[in-house]
Amino acid sequence: MSDSKVYTDYFFDEPVFDLHDGGYIPLEKADFPDKPLNIPAAIKPDKVEGNDVYYTITAQEGETQILPGAKTKTWGYNASLLGQTIILKQGVHYHVHLVNELPEVTTFHWHGLNVTGPIVDGGPHAPVYPGGSRDIDFTLDQPAQTDWIHPHPCPNTARQVWNGLAAAVVVTDTEEAKLPFPRNYGVDDIPIILQDRNYHDNQLDYKADYDVDGTLGKYALVNGTINGVFDVTTQRIRLRILNGSDRREWRLHFDDDHEFTQIASDGGTLPEPVRFTKLMLTCAERAEVIVDFGDKKPGDVVTLMSDDTPIMKFKIGEYAPDNTKLPEHLTTIDAPKVTPGLPVTKTVMSGMDDQVRLDGKLFDMQRIDRKQKIGDTVLWDVVNTNEMDGGMIHPFHMHGCQFLVISRNGKAPYPNEHGWKDTVGVNAGETVRIAVQFTKFGVYMYHCHILEHEDTGMMAQIEAYDPNHEHKYHLLSMDEMNHPSK
Ligand code: C2O
Ligand code: CU
Ligand code: CU
Repeated sequence: MSDSKVYTDYFFDEPVFDLHDGGYIPLEKADFPDKPLNIPAAIKPDKVEGNDVYYTITAQEGETQILPGAKTKTWGYNASLLGQTIILKQGVHYHVHLVNELPEVTTFHWHGLNVTGPIVDGGPHAPVYPGGSRDIDFTLDQPAQTDWIHPHPCPNTARQVWNGLAAAVVVTDTEEAKLPFPRNYGVDDIPIILQDRNYHDNQLDYKADYDVDGTLGKYALVNGTINGVFDVTTQRIRLRILNGSDRREWRLHFDDDHEFTQIASDGGTLPEPVRFTKLMLTCAERAEVIVDFGDKKPGDVVTLMSDDTPIMKFKIGEYAPDNTKLPEHLTTIDAPKVTPGLPVTKTVMSGMDDQVRLDGKLFDMQRIDRKQKIGDTVLWDVVNTNEMDGGMIHPFHMHGCQFLVISRNGKAPYPNEHGWKDTVGVNAGETVRIAVQFTKFGVYMYHCHILEHEDTGMMAQIEAYDPNHEHKYHLLSMDEMNHPSK
């Protein structure tokens, strides 16, 4: 599969890009001065005891200088906006104290982490009430990757993310540590959290901007910064790009068509590096890329664009020459064999606007929609029944597992889809076949990751079960989740 081709394609079906939606709001070049790019601080443990590491994550209100003039009221995790980056290491046992200082119920969902559901996973069954807290613990047992945490309360996920809650999670391991990737956090290894917002007298107003098909804003923010500038001090930098938007698709490229190399997808290192000049991410997808600025000299500026709009700049400084070449082969994906004799699971995303459904239904927190035995590897056909003309891409996400993309309408997946993923954009009229295995029993959500679709009810839940250990789950109703006294 390895080739030295440089792809210049977004791969997804152009007729169903978000920019064709009736309610689409294009990004606007922001008429504000450049600012240093915000680099979220790395979280510090409360304590470390051997292999046990303790963190506190507080969802809090704050104020952030985003625009000139008045600060914006925002929410964040241990920060006024977005959150501190949570760095986790394979094999370590984490104890996390989750604190809610917001005026309303929230949850802390670990998007991409293979932790038990529905409680540790932090979906809607794990509410934390205002002034309250919850303690979880888990052993991190998955490879190096870029994940994130975000709220997941029904039906207010979209608004809470819009208000600012989202933080990068960086997982490290010893295998990835041997690869010649930049990994000096904040220097040559930085999160790139992509979001879009509108402001009303410098304030957010989710209601005013709400769109049932996904809320959009005209300003691009990277890590909460409009017109951010990152000072490049090394020849190669690693960007951990996360589409943290409610709805927007990001079609990334540099103004000079500078090439970059994707080294990881949602669930970690790709088997082979993939070279691009263009990269599209649907909601919640991640891509780690390495950009080699060896052809640039100090003073040069390279602008990252989405469609035709500049979103941030890389200002090249003095750097030591670094001619590290990436190996042709990065890692071996240990693909589990599909368990023989099992039918293909079919799941259908349908509709648009308030007509969106998953398998023809709206989400019910007390209904288990499917079951799958842990350890089994099952093919799932994820279908988007929208019209190929006029429909939209629905990004399909599963909790509690990382899956492999087998095919798109029977054809090979995109060249950067040969690694583990937890979110896959499904084009209108398309069936994406994935191979799914759960390793931990629990109840997990699967849903469209356009956050307004999820909140509308384009979501379902699966029980991953262990036939030898019957497990009873207390599944809250949405009413119970939102009203602690009941
Ligand atoms: Cu990003 Cu149900 O999650
Ligand atoms: Cu998730
Ligand atoms: Cu959707």
